[in-house]
Amino acid sequence: MSFNPLKEKGIPLDKQLKTWTDIVKRPYKRELADCYTRTRQILMNGIEVESWNFKHHFLRTSNNMEINKLIADIRRIENNQQTTINWLCPHNQSVLDTTLGYEQVAIDLTAWLAQNEPDDYVKETYDFGLLEDFDHLYRYSQFAYLIEGTDPNDILHYSTDVNFARPTQYHHNPNRLRIRKSYDKLNTDPQTKVNILTLVSAEQQTHNFYAEHGFMYGSDDLRKLYAEISDVEEEHVTMYETLIDPTETMLEKLLIHEFCEVCCYHNCYKDEKDDKIKLIYEEFLAMEIEHLQIAAKMLEKYQGTDAEEIIGGKIFDTCHFEEQKEYVNNIILNESDKRLDTDFKYTYIKDLSEDWTGYEAQRVLLSKCAPSETSVKLSINGIMKSDIVSTDLKMLKMRQKILQNALDINMMAPNTVNPDEYSTVESDKIFN
Ligand SMILES: [Fe+2]
Ligand SMILES: [Fe+2]
Ligand SMILES: [Fe+2]
Ligand SMILES: [Fe+2]
Repeated sequence: MSFNPLKEKGIPLDKQLKTWTDIVKRPYKRELADCYTRTRQILMNGIEVESWNFKHHFLRTSNNMEINKLIADIRRIENNQQTTINWLCPHNQSVLDTTLGYEQVAIDLTAWLAQNEPDDYVKETYDFGLLEDFDHLYRYSQFAYLIEGTDPNDILHYSTDVNFARPTQYHHNPNRLRIRKSYDKLNTDPQTKVNILTLVSAEQQTHNFYAEHGFMYGSDDLRKLYAEISDVEEEHVTMYETLIDPTETMLEKLLIHEFCEVCCYHNCYKDEKDDKIKLIYEEFLAMEIEHLQIAAKMLEKYQGTDAEEIIGGKIFDTCHFEEQKEYVNNIILNESDKRLDTDFKYTYIKDLSEDWTGYEAQRVLLSKCAPSETSVKLSINGIMKSDIVSTDLKMLKMRQKILQNALDINMMAPNTVNPDEYSTVESDKIFN
């Protein structure tokens, strides 16, 4: 039987407030948790933060007291749910450990969404962003090993590869170039709407985590890497959020936010293997069903719109996590030289003119160095004399070719690692 969240029974709003003992649960174990238990926990924290924050924006634009009172009550619940989810993270999971988890979310979630996206332009945008987060994971992995001696596979469990793709130095653009073409709310599949909001929430939380934790290391080089990548995540939020139709009303947006929470919790509940965490997802799903139905009632009452016109009558698997290596490697081989173009399109290095607008930001940002290149220099020139890579033999053999294809000879930070430098180092430190 299909699951229509507008018809299922949820937990009444006046039964959703809990004690602190029930809000703060025991964390998972850093060493024992499945890597996808960690990615679900990271994602759902981002979903709750977005849901909470959006309701503050709503309040600041609304003078409807009935809606404002309801939203104030629901927002308190979102806040408590966020505490429960985020505090499942154990105290001994370092900032770098969690960072590897954030990039694993970005890679495997984006790959999943790209393969389950009805809109071709949105899919192309996912594939474009996917390669950038993949490259971030590689840069951070160098530091996880250099600074904390962590094998990235302690966190990634060999489910996501560690390798370069489109080098991070090329992720910098004038931010306006990231703006994408938005969907038309009247002619868009509900799956597209919920897919985008899921990814916007993940990317926004990734940005916030780097912006708020990057200073916590003594290494100047690592601090600069966090600054650099947090700026790219800002571009990612811009890129994904501008896919959303800006003419959706606040009530429509409220409905889609609650729908997104329902879809994600349902998916997490289905997939989660940790019994205690699965119970949390089951309960939070029932809470979100109630939030969704309240939003649907407000939409009907004040806008005269039936919720099914906007979200349909079924749910979607918006956050299924599984190994995506084959899909990702294929994009790496074909799109590492892809770049943003004007008119919301994409282009390739070979077609860029000297006055390509993307160079405007890169000329400034790369003029002294790219911290993302320093991360590799420190690995291959330091005591390790090797970089941290985890991929299959086929991809390992193609590394120099991929890099040569992805580098833009017209624009390189002065500390760019030359492809020849890779030929002289061992790249099998953590080879699988
Ligand atoms: Fe929530
Ligand atoms: Fe990233
Ligand atoms: Fe990202
Ligand atoms: Fe909610």
